[in-house]
Amino acid sequence: MHALIDLSGSRNDPGRRTGRVDLRVRLKEATAEAHRQLDRSLLAFDLRTVAGYRRFLEANAGALLPLEAALVESGVDEIVADWSRRSRTDAILDDLTRIDGKLHLMPAPASLSHSRLLGVMYVLEGSRLGARFLLKLVARSADPAMTGATAYLSHGSAEPLWERFLLLLAHEAPRVEEEEVVAGARTAFGLFSMAAAGA
Ligand code: HEM
Repeated sequence: MHALIDLSGSRNDPGRRTGRVDLRVRLKEATAEAHRQLDRSLLAFDLRTVAGYRRFLEANAGALLPLEAALVESGVDEIVADWSRRSRTDAILDDLTRIDGKLHLMPAPASLSHSRLLGVMYVLEGSRLGARFLLKLVARSADPAMTGATAYLSHGSAEPLWERFLLLLAHEAPRVEEEEVVAGARTAFGLFSMAAAGA
């Protein structure tokens, strides 16, 4: 897949422009392998069929719901002012209802420190970039059951949520423990991988 997709691009990348290795670049490098593996697992679901798309959504929900619950419990709205515009729990539950999907929830991570919370947010917000690409695959389906269940993949696409998150990350960078932010990101990728393996 990544022969076709360039994950190293500098598009929308304030960190590259500053010429120093910033927190976002650190996160991207530290999780590149986890991202590659997750891509492979998720692209194994056949997104042209309802059965494949249902399993894809079930896997995503299995990780997204406990991660968002942990973020809320850890006070995400005090750090991420526009959190209510970012939560995708309702969107994915709505999609699952429409295509008769089931919930297989992964264990929620323990309460997140400020640094870990930002690492989890990095992964969830970054997943919107892959979603843009996946939405195009799903949109090719002629099945209205599928094309009517894309609230998760299209969520927030009219807003520059990723770019705004990168600004927040750069703003918070002086106040975080880098290793802990990376640990939060690894936890989030780990939960998605677990959900993709078990779905
Ligand atoms: C098959 C599924 C996926 C594909 C094909 C995919 C593809 C991509 C692509 C093309 C980008 C770069 C977009 C750009 O720079 O404009 C990207 C970025 C990213 N994706 Fe994925 N993605 C997928 C799933 C996921 C999932 C499920 C997660 C997390 C749960 C995720 C996390 C991220 C993150 C954190 C970034 C930002 C990396 C950076 O800092 O630049 N992706 N993805």
